[in-house]
Amino acid sequence: MKILFIGDIVGEPGRKAVHALLPKLQEQHGLDFVIANGENSAGGNGITPRIATELFAAGIDVITSGDHLWDQKEVMELLTKEKRFLRPLNYPVGTPGQGGGVYEVQNPKSKVQGLKVGVLNAQGRTFMPPLENPFLAAPPEVERLRAETKIIFVDFHAEATSEKIGFARMLDGKVSAVVGTHTHVQTADEQIFPGGTAYLSDAGFTGPQESVLGREIEPVIKRFITNMPQRFEVAKNRIMLHGAVVTVDEATGRSVGIERVAERLG
Ligand SMILES: [Fe+2]
Ligand SMILES: [Fe+2]
Repeated sequence: MKILFIGDIVGEPGRKAVHALLPKLQEQHGLDFVIANGENSAGGNGITPRIATELFAAGIDVITSGDHLWDQKEVMELLTKEKRFLRPLNYPVGTPGQGGGVYEVQNPKSKVQGLKVGVLNAQGRTFMPPLENPFLAAPPEVERLRAETKIIFVDFHAEATSEKIGFARMLDGKVSAVVGTHTHVQTADEQIFPGGTAYLSDAGFTGPQESVLGREIEPVIKRFITNMPQRFEVAKNRIMLHGAVVTVDEATGRSVGIERVAERLG
């Protein structure tokens, strides 16, 4: 089966790219399941129920998040009511929402309809806001998901490549794929580990590339020069969809391929 993962969708340009390019990618790859990081989908900051509904309607099956989780207060409704929305697993016990779930393939074009896919979202701690240790939180959650399915996709939202690679190596053979998010820069280290886990340090971001990580360039430079706060508006030009397509042997849950995606809009 083929799973598309879409890197951080940034604002309206990112959502536009998803709507326009997902049907094309569907055609090209014969996708069965689509996961997207939506932490920047509302004007670059957070996500709302309205935007989540829009992304689900575009063909995304599960939305993951990250450190921008709380930027829109309406996210609480998603955390409490929407099982297809995940927050990083390693928030303290008692935080609303869930870090992992099992979903069925529902894509009408898929030949593996009804097949169960586990999705897990966790967040790193190096150069990130403090959370519980993901290296301790993830293994029991992986076991919980593995009781239902061997096909498990992990979005590890983290800054440091060492933490990302270490986390993915720890899970090698236990999950189908670990793909990183958060840096908004797509890396070129896609590979399959010996245990069958597909890996990519960062999927990149979906939105305007003529920017600094999706934001207008000038205010970011000004901020670095002056250290004074600036408004970081979402940029507009050279919109791309970034992500990866992972091919999973559904009998074993092992990955047999991973391919980076970088599609330009228009
Ligand atoms: Fe992001
Ligand atoms: Fe982030």
